[in-house]
Amino acid sequence: MMIKRRHQSDVRSSEITPKDVYMERRRFMAAGAGALLFGAVGATPAAAARTKLDGVVQGLYQADEEWTPYDDITSYNNFYEFGTGKDDPIRYSRFFNPSPWSVTIDGAVEKPGTYTIEDILKPHALEERVYRLRCVERWSMVVPWVGFPLADLLKRFAPTSGAKYVAFETLLDPERMPGQKLGVLEWPYVEGLTIDEAMHPLTLLAVGLYGETMPNQNGAPLRLVVPWKYGFKSIKSIVRISLVEKQPPTSWNISTPREYGFYSNVNPEVDHPRWTQATERRIGDFFRRPTLMFNGYAEDVANLYAGMDLVKNY
Ligand code: MTE
Repeated sequence: MMIKRRHQSDVRSSEITPKDVYMERRRFMAAGAGALLFGAVGATPAAAARTKLDGVVQGLYQADEEWTPYDDITSYNNFYEFGTGKDDPIRYSRFFNPSPWSVTIDGAVEKPGTYTIEDILKPHALEERVYRLRCVERWSMVVPWVGFPLADLLKRFAPTSGAKYVAFETLLDPERMPGQKLGVLEWPYVEGLTIDEAMHPLTLLAVGLYGETMPNQNGAPLRLVVPWKYGFKSIKSIVRISLVEKQPPTSWNISTPREYGFYSNVNPEVDHPRWTQATERRIGDFFRRPTLMFNGYAEDVANLYAGMDLVKNY
């Protein structure tokens, strides 16, 4: 029989989040304000409607490992816009409506503009890619994402020579994302990649998982997936993609720069200042396993960092 222990020996939210911020949230929740903020309607997790995606083909990258069950992928989440607990996103994103949705592409591109999600998706064939996701908190999953390469999207908007980095932004709307009423992070959530990382064929814009549309708690309708980086680089519910000249700010680096750098590549040899990154626990497993360099994607991506000091560039 498989024994399931999900939370044991993972790093707790209280450890990830700076102490003052965590305590603020605790005081807030203790005062009963949480129910008011997030809405009593979401108090019980309930199955949301699931919609199959048509025409999905098998993608090039398929981690040859057992898939983490759908229920685990969709009920053990980090999405601070809907609360900081692992089961907050499934509860409090339930009534979030990701439609209509538009995405702005701007900065160093020849064709900037704001486009509906339908126009964004139209030219792209959807593929299923099975990737390992390694969270900085030392748990991991195997997820069958559905999406298309970010590079294919960026090419459509013709990046110019000034495009050295790509900056991403999540929706800012505290009424629809009530966690944004708390000061746990600066809002909106922002992330960034170098242009080479963004153009790498492994970097995926995902619109679903398990052959179905993206659940709200996993970042509907459009999220990034960068499988060789810690999970927090995979920004959810994207509304802006900007090609920029300078390294853009990133949410966790703004919050705690000593602990979270711009690169945040999975690296078992570089400890987080407060815990080792040498091992991880696959959700559903009892024993920990060694963490692999670049989360097992070294063959594909190590060349992006040739000659770089990965301790300094953490
Ligand atoms: N994106 C936004 N907008 N807000 C967040 O809080 N959390 C990040 C990342 N993307 C986060 C986010 C973190 S810490 C992780 S580990 C992954 O989402 C988790 O993705 P999952 O819930 O689909 O497993």
